[in-house]
Amino acid sequence: MTTIPKRVPIPRNGVDYRGKIVLAPMVRSGELPSRLLALKYGADLVWGPETVDKSMIGTIKKINPITSTINFTRYPSNASRTQPVEQKESLIYRIHPTRERRKLIFQIGTSSPTFAVEAAKLVAADVAGIDVNAGCPKPFSTSGGMGAALLQTPDLLASILTALVKEVGAVYEIGISVKIRLLETPERTEALVRKLCDTGITGLTIHCRTTPMRPRERAIREQLRMIADICRETGVACLMNGDVKNKDEALELIQEYGVDGAMIASAAEANFSCFRTQAEGGLLPWREVVHEYVKTALEVNNKWGNTKYLLGQLVPGKAEVYRKVTSSKGYTEMCEILELQDLLDQAREVDERLGLGVNYKGAVKKAKTKNKSAQAAGGSMGKAMAHGNESKKPLSERGVTATTAKDMGGSYDVECQDPLMEQGISASSVLAV
Ligand SMILES: Cc1cc2nc3c(=O)[nH]c(=O)nc-3n(C[C@H](O)[C@H](O)[C@H](O)COP(=O)(O)O)c2cc1C
Repeated sequence: MTTIPKRVPIPRNGVDYRGKIVLAPMVRSGELPSRLLALKYGADLVWGPETVDKSMIGTIKKINPITSTINFTRYPSNASRTQPVEQKESLIYRIHPTRERRKLIFQIGTSSPTFAVEAAKLVAADVAGIDVNAGCPKPFSTSGGMGAALLQTPDLLASILTALVKEVGAVYEIGISVKIRLLETPERTEALVRKLCDTGITGLTIHCRTTPMRPRERAIREQLRMIADICRETGVACLMNGDVKNKDEALELIQEYGVDGAMIASAAEANFSCFRTQAEGGLLPWREVVHEYVKTALEVNNKWGNTKYLLGQLVPGKAEVYRKVTSSKGYTEMCEILELQDLLDQAREVDERLGLGVNYKGAVKKAKTKNKSAQAAGGSMGKAMAHGNESKKPLSERGVTATTAKDMGGSYDVECQDPLMEQGISASSVLAV
């Protein structure tokens, strides 16, 4: 007699993670243009950057007719209620409803079932799933009981997932999932995975590193098969994450460890075409990827600070143009440096719309004095990137302290997100509204 494998049913508006190679959640590196590019090159699904529940609560949903995007915006929580018009509106989250349709998973940072539900409800109708971040190891996340701190409070994590399953998943007919790290022993990981798989979630991602491990330390694969087995037994789709270089390698690892799919972060951040198999042409030269990235960033009027940050990841540090690109002041200048002639007209238009270009220096100065929080969240990338090749190294190797890292606009050596996000000033807020 054959046994039918158990499967937690995938809700009508949700997606099954099985057989999928996906873009990982990445603060700053996982904003809208990055996600669209990953999808173009073959990512099956994309995770948005972690967004803290409290920064999402209180946002207003707006459609931007120029970019056809859904924007969730808010005024800073310390804004005067009587004069909101004078306050700078922050963009907390952005979705392309057609290009990301049924492909986008919203990742939430939370330590409260109530806040998680309240925040998730705001985006639930526009995404294919809600994922809870239970892996961020940084104090600004863990001190609030979020991220990897949830691995130490499994009852709380399970109660967040249960609440999301019942009050968001069931109502909006989407799946709820969780992203965790390994615990210190296989026994502890096993107990945690069993508990989480019992909450009604449809998917679980395992980042194959423990909480204290740094991103450059090799991922540990020993517990993977055990985790995959528990997920299969309980009907939950299992994605593996950690040191997956490209789609071909992902497909091999899926076979080797019996997982259902794989998630890629760093390799995608360096070159989004890692989602192409060799048979599809494999990794594209950086110039081609950069051209496509800039085209996409222009299409969605991406905030210049975020685009420049990404260019700092995509243009090799050794390339002659690296320093020039990372100290350019706007789209037009950058397109000229990179000789992207076909994008110049559009670049001028977007510069004008975003207030960049000729008056850029003045505009930046004004913005800096007006909004110190935005500056800390990414406004001073020009200065940071002017370090050229230096900025390619992990912050720790550059002798950068936590404070200066934040001032620089960060890197995910400063894993996950900035505490400013809790106040509604997210990495996304440096995007154009
Ligand atoms: C720039 C950057 C930002 C990240 N932001 C998040 C995040 O918002 N949420 C999260 O769960 N993990 C985040 N991560 C961790 C990745 O999703 C992933 O778990 C980790 O980088 C390991 O995968 P990799 O070896 O493919 O890089 C981030 C990683 C990077 C490099």
